[in-house]
Amino acid sequence: MKPPPSPPPSLLLFILLLLLLLLTVTVFSQPEPSPDPVGEFKGKRLPTNEWKGEWELFTDNSGVSAMHAIVIPNVNKVLMYDATIWRISRIELPKGRCRVLNTTTGEEDCFAHSVLMDIDTAHLTPLELHTDTWCSSGGLTFHGNLISTGGFQGGANTVRYLKIYNTSTWREFPSALSSPRWYSTQAQLADGRIIIIGGRSTPTYEYIPPDGKSNAKPFFFDFLQQTTDPEENNLYPFVFLSPDSNVFVFANNRSVLLNPDTNTVVKEFPVLPGGHRNYPASGMAVLLPLEVLSPEADAVVEAEVLVCGGSAHIDSYTLGLKNVFYEALRDCGRLQITKPRPSWRREVMPSARVMGDMVILPTGEVLMINGATRGASGWGNAREPNLKPLLFNHKAPNKHRLFKELNPTTIPRMYHSTAVVLPDNRVLVAGSNTNNGYIYDNTTFPTELRVEKFSPPYFSPSRAHKKPKIINGGCPKTVSYGQDLTVKVNLNEKRIFLTNFMVTMYVPAFTTHGVAMNQRLVKLLLKDAVKVGEGRYDVSCVAPPNSAVAPEGYFMLSVVHRRIPSEAVWVQLK
Ligand SMILES: *[C@@H]1O[C@H](CO)[C@@H](O)[C@H](O)[C@H]1NC(C)=O
Ligand SMILES: *[C@@H]1O[C@H](CO)[C@@H](O)[C@H](O)[C@H]1NC(C)=O
Ligand SMILES: *[C@@H]1O[C@H](CO)[C@@H](O)[C@H](O)[C@H]1NC(C)=O
Ligand SMILES: *[C@@H]1O[C@H](CO)[C@@H](O)[C@H](O)[C@H]1NC(C)=O
Repeated sequence: MKPPPSPPPSLLLFILLLLLLLLTVTVFSQPEPSPDPVGEFKGKRLPTNEWKGEWELFTDNSGVSAMHAIVIPNVNKVLMYDATIWRISRIELPKGRCRVLNTTTGEEDCFAHSVLMDIDTAHLTPLELHTDTWCSSGGLTFHGNLISTGGFQGGANTVRYLKIYNTSTWREFPSALSSPRWYSTQAQLADGRIIIIGGRSTPTYEYIPPDGKSNAKPFFFDFLQQTTDPEENNLYPFVFLSPDSNVFVFANNRSVLLNPDTNTVVKEFPVLPGGHRNYPASGMAVLLPLEVLSPEADAVVEAEVLVCGGSAHIDSYTLGLKNVFYEALRDCGRLQITKPRPSWRREVMPSARVMGDMVILPTGEVLMINGATRGASGWGNAREPNLKPLLFNHKAPNKHRLFKELNPTTIPRMYHSTAVVLPDNRVLVAGSNTNNGYIYDNTTFPTELRVEKFSPPYFSPSRAHKKPKIINGGCPKTVSYGQDLTVKVNLNEKRIFLTNFMVTMYVPAFTTHGVAMNQRLVKLLLKDAVKVGEGRYDVSCVAPPNSAVAPEGYFMLSVVHRRIPSEAVWVQLK
């Protein structure tokens, strides 16, 4: 048999040139992914998003002063509560459900101190609470109910359970904790235990005992003793579960890793210079989004903590009482807590902030909101509200793009204000009460019962038609660790690139006093995104690898495409 004739050399050269040309065209028609705050993407570039967000007044009566707030899974409600000590609020308990304060005199309190607020209608359901939750701590249980700890006087040693789905009544155990916990921080751990750290004059920690049981004694925590200033500056410590299972604790200007199995401090990090970051010099802190890069159960996930604002002065609280209001801190520190020898990296915010809130948006950006530019926490101890939220993008390619100032509100959110991310990706902003009681007149900052919703820049009207939507039933309601997961979305795009997608899972934070307990956003490992119909895509990813990366419980899952998030769906991880 004759071999086929080989093509002449000129034809070979022509084919080679053609191939080269094709290659050039494909490379240049897909711009390099740019880690731009607006779009880490391939494909046609969206116009730069100059839309700076929008505020709306949601309701003018939250019923109670929203000192504590958290979104409750599945029921479309936000739980808010203040303190029983004031014996008054703007909403009464159902008829005949008064709290008897003194059996001799028969004195009663017929006001509610906790409410469930409907996220769409602002309808309030008053809930009866007996022990004082003033400056307490909390978080969700695995089943999506609330577990609350500490507070004032008779509430200080209390553990409370609020079963939302059935009865919506509080069950309170006033002697469950071994130490009084006023201004302490609660955090869920990898093994399912819940730790409560610190509190006024309480340099200890303990774990919430089983339902109905009491703790005999706490664990002494020298670190809290050492970080106490004459005016504290170490209350409501910043506590995060590290993806290596240890507990990161930041108080005043120091931080350690606590091993919850051995109850020993396994590492101390360098001091964060510049001032004091915890109550009453209240700064704010967040565990930056955790990014899963491997499907293995023991995947190494790096973690970085961001601490911002606070006070440079040791006496900002005392001087506030004397009408001297120091300018708050403007700087932030970033620390990679999973690195062997990390050091703080400094960033500077466009404005100073004390008593602010930091919430993680589904895009992985951090919103800094609420608070003041002068003074400290406490009644009347601050001035000059910081009305402008900031958007912080930890992945910005250069320093000039780290922060973006957004549209200001008109309502000061001083001491005792809160901010929570809603499943529709708006941020509910409530509270502010710098008075001892509900005081509306003749005071610098009246008790604030108005509630706002803030729409971050991804709500830009010019991008509305590009918002992905998770198809009804297009995401499983429960997932297990490391499970392959496919989310079905509607998306108005003809062609897509996997790198333009993100799937994020967010733990709803319990927010109070600028501390967002349990707040956590996990960026899942993406596997594929395939077109399954006109404007319909299947995005497949892998559920978090283990419970140190993402503890068991409820998450808000969002599909993000070109930095525009879908509304979240509730997913229970177990
Ligand atoms: C109840 O009121 C009586 C009479 O005013 C007072 O002596 C008593 O201390 C009060 N009890 C409590 C628990 O406040
Ligand atoms: C609600 O609680 C009651 C009493 O504990 C129980 O009998 C009932 O089955 C519960 N209902 C649901 C829907 O969980
Ligand atoms: C850290 O805070 C302590 C207690 O207020 C203070 O004495 C110390 O100087 C601070 N350290 C630094 C480096 O700022
Ligand atoms: C308002 O506050 C001022 C200053 O604290 C006080 O002198 C005055 O009596 C107050 N007026 C009323 C009506 O409470």
